[in-house]
Amino acid sequence: MTHLLDIEKLTRHFGGLAAVSDLTFHVDENEILGIIGPNGAGKTTAINLVSGVIRPSSGHVRVAGEDVTGLMPHVLARKGLVRTFQSTTVYGERTVRENAMRGAYLGMYPGAVAAFLNTARARRLREESVRRVNELLEWLNLADVAHLKAGSLPYGHQKTLGMVISLAAQPRIIMLDEPVAGLSAEEADHVRDTILKIRERGITVVVIDHNMRFMKGLCDRVMVMNQGHELTTGLPLEVLANPLVIEAYLGRGHAAAHRI
Ligand SMILES: Nc1ncnc2c1ncn2[C@@H]1O[C@H](COP(=O)(O)OP(=O)(O)O)[C@@H](O)[C@H]1O
Ligand SMILES: [Mg+2]
Repeated sequence: MTHLLDIEKLTRHFGGLAAVSDLTFHVDENEILGIIGPNGAGKTTAINLVSGVIRPSSGHVRVAGEDVTGLMPHVLARKGLVRTFQSTTVYGERTVRENAMRGAYLGMYPGAVAAFLNTARARRLREESVRRVNELLEWLNLADVAHLKAGSLPYGHQKTLGMVISLAAQPRIIMLDEPVAGLSAEEADHVRDTILKIRERGITVVVIDHNMRFMKGLCDRVMVMNQGHELTTGLPLEVLANPLVIEAYLGRGHAAAHRI
């Protein structure tokens, strides 16, 4: 069976270290897959490989059956796969709306961006993008602050803006790396609800986080990574009760173990 996202034996070495090693997993259409694991387990490297930020040493990434291994992030964005921007990539001096508009350019070749801004057809496309971005800002409750500098927003709102940037590229799959790191419990609940709303639109989600309460309330399945490998994958409660998982955390003395 073809899954929306199929990862086969993905491997990436950094010098002598296999940060990700023989990693095989899949994500179904409209699913929310969580990825957990101790620091250094290879989670960020895995989604960087899948989203084209770095190239694999070996292995395959397939989107709806098409081999997209090693393609650049803007090409993958056109195929519907986007790695969500962190708050650090939100331009604090630009307005919320200007930041959000960047997402509309995500799926374009750099040369096309210039054309996009100049020709008549481009103007029409731009108007469509503005409408799309306005609708997204409205939908995720950022319309009232769209004219403010992004840097002046509370951290939780900046996270939501990061998601708007990604959604403006009209993805089929979004991948989020620690979307609630550093947020309060209340802000984390808000981000969880936002991601659930995004899924209701038919978008598939891959999310990494250490906050187990957040992950339990969000994910359909959770994959646990340890030392570049998949340790186990299953329902959130099953996985979190698995002695191997607890050992992987405790064995590395990780603080997140206390939150399982
Ligand atoms: N660009 C890089 N160069 C060298 N080593 C790296 C690089 N990126 C990650 N690593 C190493 O790969 C391993 C996995 O890192 P990472 O994917 O960031 O783990 P996680 O996100 O699970 O904490 C770590 O040992 C890390 O030091
Ligand atoms: Mg990481």
